[in-house]
Amino acid sequence: MRDTESDLRKVLLCLVIVVAAPLVGATDHIVGDNHGWNPNINYTYWANNQTFYVNDYISFRYQKGMYNVFMVNETGYDNCTTEGALGNWSNGKDFILLTEPKRYYFICGNGFCFSGMKVSVVVHPLPSPPSSPKKGKPNNQSSSGGSVIRMKSTFWGSIIWCLMIFLGWM
Ligand SMILES: *[C@@H]1O[C@H](CO)[C@@H](O)[C@H](O)[C@H]1NC(C)=O
Ligand SMILES: *[C@@H]1O[C@H](CO)[C@@H](O)[C@H](O)[C@H]1NC(C)=O
Ligand SMILES: *[C@@H]1O[C@H](CO)[C@@H](O)[C@H](O)[C@H]1NC(C)=O
Ligand SMILES: *[C@@H]1O[C@H](CO)[C@@H](O)[C@H](O)[C@H]1NC(C)=O
Ligand SMILES: *[C@@H]1O[C@H](CO)[C@@H](O)[C@H](O)[C@H]1NC(C)=O
Repeated sequence: MRDTESDLRKVLLCLVIVVAAPLVGATDHIVGDNHGWNPNINYTYWANNQTFYVNDYISFRYQKGMYNVFMVNETGYDNCTTEGALGNWSNGKDFILLTEPKRYYFICGNGFCFSGMKVSVVVHPLPSPPSSPKKGKPNNQSSSGGSVIRMKSTFWGSIIWCLMIFLGWM
């Protein structure tokens, strides 16, 4: 006979993971959301609606071979130049870990930067766990939008955890 008690425990554990994971997990910020990394998109507009924290990912989705991603400094961003680039990616689905609290600059390195394929994001230090309303965020709307995104993108990660629990224990 099936052990329904341990099945119930798995379900409960999954619930805990799905609920708790967004509170600790890092976010993956998909550049351009559904539009991805393509010309003629206002990425300033996209970036203004995101809140980035240290250890979040920024990820670029695009047609491989057509575009690419260069991490540059402010000069490279302003002038669409890749001299002295800090990194480059070209897999078409590139995840970049944001390790420092600073402003990052990314551009497309093969000319499409001039067609708007450039994005600059400010990465904030990790917030201290209990929310204190003291450290004034510049924009309430963007910070609440950010936490919604945090919850959404960790949701699938926690589903995968649940699958692993079931596969491992069954
Ligand atoms: C992109 O959006 C930002 C923020 O909404 C705005 O300030 C800027 O003028 C826009 N740029 C272009 C080229 O439309
Ligand atoms: C900001 O993001 C939220 C949540 O993803 C979305 O509902 C909203 O339309 C976005 N606002 C702008 C101005 O892009
Ligand atoms: C790069 O852009 C800056 C303005 O952001 C300008 O002052 C500088 O001359 C440009 N440099 C080159 C090499 O084009
Ligand atoms: C960016 O890097 C280039 C090349 O290494 C350098 O000449 C330039 O001064 C740097 N710009 C800034 C703002 O650090
Ligand atoms: C891209 O990065 C690799 C190292 O990851 C480096 O060897 C290569 O020179 C870079 N390409 C350009 C065009 O900067």
